[in-house]
Formats: sequence, C-alpha cells, structure tokens
Amino acid sequence: MAKVKTVYVCQECGAQSPRWSGKCNDCGGWNTFQEESILPKANQTGMTLNQGVGELIALDKVESNTEDRVSSQISELDRVLGGGLVSGVLILLGGAPGIGKSTLLLQLASRLATSLGPVLYVSGEESPQQIKLRADRLKAVSDRILLFNETRFEAVTQQMTNLKPGFVIIDSIQTLFRSDINSAPGSVTQVRECAAGLMRIAKETGTPTVLVGHVTKDGHIAGPRVLEHLVDTVLSFEGETESQLRLLRSTKNRFGPSHEVGLFEMTSQGLIPVTEASSFFLNQRTQGLSGSVVYPSLEGTRPILVEVQALVTESYSATQGAPPARRTVGIDGNRMSLLLAVLSKKVGQLKMGTQDVYAKIAGGLKLQDPALDLSLALALLSSRNERPISGQVASFGEIGLGGEIRPVHGTELRLQELHRLGFKKCILPAASITKKLQSAVGLALEGVESVTQLPGIVGNSGKSAQQSSQDPPF
Ligand code: TYD
Ligand code: MG
Repeated sequence: MAKVKTVYVCQECGAQSPRWSGKCNDCGGWNTFQEESILPKANQTGMTLNQGVGELIALDKVESNTEDRVSSQISELDRVLGGGLVSGVLILLGGAPGIGKSTLLLQLASRLATSLGPVLYVSGEESPQQIKLRADRLKAVSDRILLFNETRFEAVTQQMTNLKPGFVIIDSIQTLFRSDINSAPGSVTQVRECAAGLMRIAKETGTPTVLVGHVTKDGHIAGPRVLEHLVDTVLSFEGETESQLRLLRSTKNRFGPSHEVGLFEMTSQGLIPVTEASSFFLNQRTQGLSGSVVYPSLEGTRPILVEVQALVTESYSATQGAPPARRTVGIDGNRMSLLLAVLSKKVGQLKMGTQDVYAKIAGGLKLQDPALDLSLALALLSSRNERPISGQVASFGEIGLGGEIRPVHGTELRLQELHRLGFKKCILPAASITKKLQSAVGLALEGVESVTQLPGIVGNSGKSAQQSSQDPPF
C-alpha cells in the first residue's frame, strides 16, 4: 500500500517543511508546525483564478468594468468598504470572539436580502435556533435569508450553484472543510483551499461573499497569512469588552481606501453606526479638570476628536525604593515613557521619578499616531502642575527625542474638524503654520517649536501643587 505522504505546515504563514521544527524560518513563529497530508495535485484549487487565456493585452485596451457598487445600507460599513459592495468581492472579517461579527453580518444580511436577492448564511458554529434568536432581537427576520447549518465545503458550493444567492456569508471559514483533504478543519491547507474555492465561485458568479475569520490571542486572523493575501478586502472588528464602542477597520482593500475606520455602538438592538464620532467621544467630558486635553486624531481620512487624560501623582512605591507606576489605556506605554524622559530632561523641576503616571484615551479608542505626543505632553504637565487647560483648546504634533515639535500629516483636516465642533484655539507645531492655513481654518493657531515652551502654556504649579510641597507627601 502506498504510504500517505505528509508535510509539516506552519499554521501562521503556510511555510512547508519535510521535518518538524520548533521554529518557522519563514515567519519566525514558534511551535507553529503541524503535520498535514500532501494534497494530490488534482485536488488543489490553486491560488490563481486562471480566468485569462494567456494572451497579451495592452493596458489601454482592457475594458474597464464600470464599478457598480451596491450600498450595504449601513453607513459606517459603506465608509470602510469605500462606498459599498463590489460584485464578486471576497471579504474576510476578523475579530475576537463575542465582539459582534455575527451580529453585524446578520444586520447586513437583512438589509441586502431586499436589495441583492436571497442571502445564503452558512453557519458551522451556531444552530438555526440560535441565529433566529439573535435575528428576533435585531428585527432582522426575513424569508430571504436562508440559513444553512453545514461545514462541508462541497455541500456549500452545491447550495451556491442551486440557489444562486445575491450575497453569501460563511460563519466561519475555520469550520469549513473539504472532505478530499485529510487535514483537520481550521488547518492551513483546509482554510486556504476552502477560501480559494469560494474566491473562484465569487468571481465567476459575481456574488459578494463574506468570510468570518477567528483571531488568535495576539490579534492575528487565525490560519495562514495567505488567506489575507487571497481575499480582496480584510476587515477587522475591534473593541474592548467593557466598552460598547466597536471599530471596524480595513487593513486591506482592493476596491477602495484601506485604513478607514467605521464606528459602531453595541446596543441591545444590535450595532448602531456612530456617525457623529467627535461628539460621541467628547460628550462625557468634564471641562476645567487638570490633566485633560482634546486631541484631533485622524483615522484613515476621518478626523475624530478625543480627550487625552493624564494623572500624575506622588508615588508611594517610589518612597520605598520601587519604581513608580506607569500605566496607559489606549496609548502605547513605550511612547509615554519616551515622552516622560524627554520632558524630564528638557523641562526642569518635574521630578517624574517620584511620581506615578497614568494616561488614557477616554471612550475606548486605541491610538498609535505620533501626532498624539503634544496632547499627551500637555496633559501630563497639566496634571503635574495642577493647571487645567481650557476646554476650548486642542493640540496635536509629534515630539522628537531632542524635545523638538514636528509637523504631522493631515493638519488641515484636523483643524477643520476642530472648527466644526466650535473649538477656539489649537496648539500645533510652529512649522505647520502658514498664511494660507491661517486663512483657511477659522480658529486661532498657536505654534510651538520645543517642549521647553510647554510649561509657559500650561502654567507653573498651581495652588494645590504648592500646598503639596509644604504638606507631607501622604
Ligand atoms: P456576536 O455577534 O455573537 O459575536 P461574534 O460573532 O463576534 O463572536 O456578538 C455577541 C455579543 O454581542 C454578545 O456578548 C451579546 C452582544 N449583543 C448585544 O449586546 N446586543 C445585540 O443585539 C446582540 C445580538 C448581541
Ligand atoms: Mg459569531
């Protein structure tokens, strides 16, 4: 009897090796190799679509498809997709368990059931009863949403051929398997082959298709990276379990801009688009508190005003010889340490080594943009010196290691949003201010060049700080 040939496949990146190895040389992942049987050539779907006939064609002779987009009728989803669904698009939707992927897709299904035709909802994870329960809650019950409780790939493609649905949802791609492949469902080979098969059908029939992908502990979509290469669009659904805010980001988009964000609020009636993002983040702000600064963040091309909060307080652990606390929520902790180092060096009298420092973005947003530096520095100084910054003032700019304040991208967009929401003044890198900018935006601009100017803006230690220097520290 012929021996079944196997190969070790990295479950992160899809690299193959004839032998098991603790570390994948391709992606550097540890313990990622799993034994899988080699696929007979005839069974492979392959990654290419092979729709061409191998003829050369000049680029200007290629007929351009007049892109007909169908609106998803969910405004925030349309924004992320670049206007709506394109015919035959294959979308991968990733996100942590319980974040709301199935909820979003069921809401989408009920909208598209009327505009696109019957929706095929393939669920390998939940029973039709569970889905009905959710649909009742979302008021998304429709006779044009057809549930298919199935995990066999062949049965799904059969159903797609028979039914000719207008829209297909696979919840999730990790549960689907091809019976002619020996590997377990969820393995690299299964996920890749099933996705490639669905891609081919989506393109041939022009049916928009969404695959749900689970994410691993470190936030990557489980299964091979090749899955992300294969699909047209990768969306990730993010949020904290304790907050109702959900963010939909596009990390790849062949039919529109990438890195756009959509905002939703999870309510008892499902996901509701948050169109007025800035008011959403600022409406719980109490003005006049020290340590609070408004920052116009830019997510993709969308400006969102958020409140940066800092708390600098005498550290008990520092008096005991232990390092003082440094904690951040929604802000990169390393970035804050770096800023504290720059401030300690360039601005005297801060004595940050004896202070506990906490900083967060109110409302549950996570920000990476270095343009946040200036707001964070102002918030830290404001809390340290007990000097509130006016609620009508916002700031943005990057801070370099020498304490210099550098211009950032999207200056005009950020300022326009501040003006729209009635802000009176913005503190920003001096190099960004031009005559043209000043006349284009309707608010006062204050330029800064170095962190040494910041105490002058915030003000020196206020009443309570003076008190604390006289009082015993605890
Ligand atoms: P779900 O869509 O099942 O998440 P996923 O498919 O990403 O695993 O969402 C589950 C969570 O959403 C669950 O904790 C309950 C909550 N939820 C609401 O708050 N409101 C709702 O209307 C629905 C349907 C769910
Ligand atoms: Mg689900």
